[in-house]
Amino acid sequence: MQTKRLPCLSRKRNNHEETCVSGLFITLEGPEGAGKSTNRDYLAARLRDAGMDVQLTREPGGTPLAERIRELLLAPSDESMAVDTELLLMFAARAQHIDQVIRPALARGAVVVCDRFTDATYAYQGGGRGISVSRIAELEAFVQGSLRPDLTLVFDLPVDVGLARAAARGRLDRFEQEARGFFDAVRQAYLARAATDPQRYEIIDASLPLAEVQAHLQAGLPRWLERARG
Ligand SMILES: Nc1ncnc2c1ncn2[C@@H]1O[C@H](COP(=O)(O)OP(=O)(O)O)[C@@H](O)[C@H]1O
Ligand SMILES: [Mg+2]
Repeated sequence: MQTKRLPCLSRKRNNHEETCVSGLFITLEGPEGAGKSTNRDYLAARLRDAGMDVQLTREPGGTPLAERIRELLLAPSDESMAVDTELLLMFAARAQHIDQVIRPALARGAVVVCDRFTDATYAYQGGGRGISVSRIAELEAFVQGSLRPDLTLVFDLPVDVGLARAAARGRLDRFEQEARGFFDAVRQAYLARAATDPQRYEIIDASLPLAEVQAHLQAGLPRWLERARG
């Protein structure tokens, strides 16, 4: 099928001007069990229905090498991982992902739909692990230049509900094994970031039944895309 190119963003706000031109960068954020992966596939299907070229991807990971770094990050281990090691591995995987997948997709005019991105670093390594915002922001500038998402959907729900959903999925990864207080801090960090830029962030009530969440996404998507384009 012929896919539509999106109108050029460079006239107005443009979060990835080093690359481009016409793509759109959408990220899905939120804690474990919020429904990011489920709704990522739903959103990609809606965008493809509308004739768009969609690049579906995720972090940490998204390329073979970055997926190997993901395994290091998620595997429970007897050796505890230093918080800076965790932070640097996240950004090492991200550098690879941006270079191999995100920038090329934006350059060809695709809509990139990414399951987690740098907001997750602010939430988990910042809120959860206690690394300062300024330290994360330095790495963000180093690795990303001016690349930022155009639209970020934050799937928000009470910590216990999310953890119960994640636990029902099976064996817990290194992050999912964290204590309750860690996830409270992650949630608060996401909400605090979303509050700073209502133009970019949309908070989704992920505690609703899936059909309602998806009806909300379908109804809101045209408006959010319009807003993201400037
Ligand atoms: N709104 C919802 N209500 C009930 N269950 C949901 C909802 N959204 C997702 N789920 C289920 O919760 C689990 C976690 O969803 P998932 O999309 O993997 O979350 P995430 O990627 O945010 O960790 C899956 O089993 C999924 O089917
Ligand atoms: Mg997921």
